[in-house]
Amino acid sequence: MQITLATQPFASIEADALVTYVFEDGELVQGRISEINQLSNGLLNKLAKSGELTGKPLEMTLIHAPAGLKAGRLLLVGAGKRDKFDSAALRRISGSALRYLKSRGVHTLVFVSREGHATEDAAQAAVEGALAADFESDKYKTDKKNDKSIDSIVLAGYSDAERAAGEKGLLRGRIIADAQNFARDLINEPSNKLTPKILAEKAEAMAKQAGLAVEILDEKKIADLKMGALLSVAQGGPEPPRMIVITYTPANLKPGAPVIGFVGKAVTFDTGGISIKPSEGMEKMKYDMAGGATMIGVMRALAALKPNVKVICVVPSTENMPGGRAQKPGDIQTAMSGKTIEVLNTDAEGRLILADGVHYAKQLGATHLVDAATLTGAIVVALASINVGVFSGADQSWTDKILASAKAAGEKMWQLPMDDEYREFIKGTVADIQNIGSGKGGGSITGAWFIREFAGDTPWVHLDIAGTAWNDDAKPWLAKGPTGVALRSLVHLAMSY
Ligand code: BES
Ligand code: ZN
Ligand code: ZN
Repeated sequence: MQITLATQPFASIEADALVTYVFEDGELVQGRISEINQLSNGLLNKLAKSGELTGKPLEMTLIHAPAGLKAGRLLLVGAGKRDKFDSAALRRISGSALRYLKSRGVHTLVFVSREGHATEDAAQAAVEGALAADFESDKYKTDKKNDKSIDSIVLAGYSDAERAAGEKGLLRGRIIADAQNFARDLINEPSNKLTPKILAEKAEAMAKQAGLAVEILDEKKIADLKMGALLSVAQGGPEPPRMIVITYTPANLKPGAPVIGFVGKAVTFDTGGISIKPSEGMEKMKYDMAGGATMIGVMRALAALKPNVKVICVVPSTENMPGGRAQKPGDIQTAMSGKTIEVLNTDAEGRLILADGVHYAKQLGATHLVDAATLTGAIVVALASINVGVFSGADQSWTDKILASAKAAGEKMWQLPMDDEYREFIKGTVADIQNIGSGKGGGSITGAWFIREFAGDTPWVHLDIAGTAWNDDAKPWLAKGPTGVALRSLVHLAMSY
């Protein structure tokens, strides 16, 4: 899809459709809306008076052959209340407009920003919203007879003085959304098309193309490094594990500068192992690699955006299978750190592979850690698909940075408690720790505490994306399926250094 920015009067731009948005409160027809109203001989005033045009969030008003405009259609999208309007709302507006028009056979559209909104951030949000909305899960459909596609978007409503900022935002939005869709593509792949080995190959190809350093540890190297927790999960099936390491180093790295470690869970299929999951809904466990895919996507964006901080991405990847050699409940494993783990439930495998991932990231020099994982069903109970669960180590200031980035990137995150009392739940009876709590609830917190044991004193945040990484129902601005959640926040985090 081509995306450009134009400074000429929007009324003179030829396209299949011209899109802008209207607010619910205050005078509905004002500023740019009143320009269009005048060109259309008062049509918008009439629609507002009749109650057909209200500005309610995501209300769609489509006008064909609008008078005074070169575009073939005019789409007015409801923007809700002015004081609630932000870049997240703009993302949803541009995304919903794109999906609405694409389904109606539109190929070219002009997105007109409202007066005072022609900024770098707004251009970025409009582009991110549109490109994320354009993503479809039809890769394996052989019958692609529908020719529904948006081929070009023009951002309009920018003056010559606003052009440079707008173009900067456009470019940044494109880089971030492309990375997010790259991650979503990986997440969508079924487990027969995306084994740990194939994931590693795809990550390696991306890294090489983007100019990032990459190292793939195979099963032999993983064994040499004594990553016993990762190996214990992998031993249940025939597919060998991989540890994917991608590194971004800024041009003038200062000695002693902080190093971010992004660690992502990539279980390419989670059957639960011997503690096997019920068959109903098990097909969804192909997305149990979303955390890893997100981190790989973050690296792709950072390679282009070039932040001022070194970032190491570590992605442990395996299947979790119940084969003849699978680990069994009660087995004791030794993690790379030397800690012993009693595996009471083989379905709590994410924390096992993250134990070695987090330890290895520290060994490689990470001073500040974030992990992302589809870790627990309990986070779906607590926060549904609305918020990412956030869990902090002792350094709350690191967590606050991530929460601030999430706010800026328009991704909802909610911090849960990590009191020391919860740590007691995973105290081992026969080993140092056990991989599930002893029947006292708080499943997402005990999962987080388990990982924290391996982060030690290093500032660390855990993001549980089990509820948010997959969209069960299509939204007006996003297809059903993988969301790529947390990617934008973590890119923002690295960029704010
Ligand atoms: N991959 C699952 C968590 C999950 C659940 C992801 C729902 C996405 C949607 C994880 O490995 C798991 O099975 N966790 C167990 C932990 C339990 C055994 C302590 C769970 O949540 O049931
Ligand atoms: Zn599991
Ligand atoms: Zn899992």
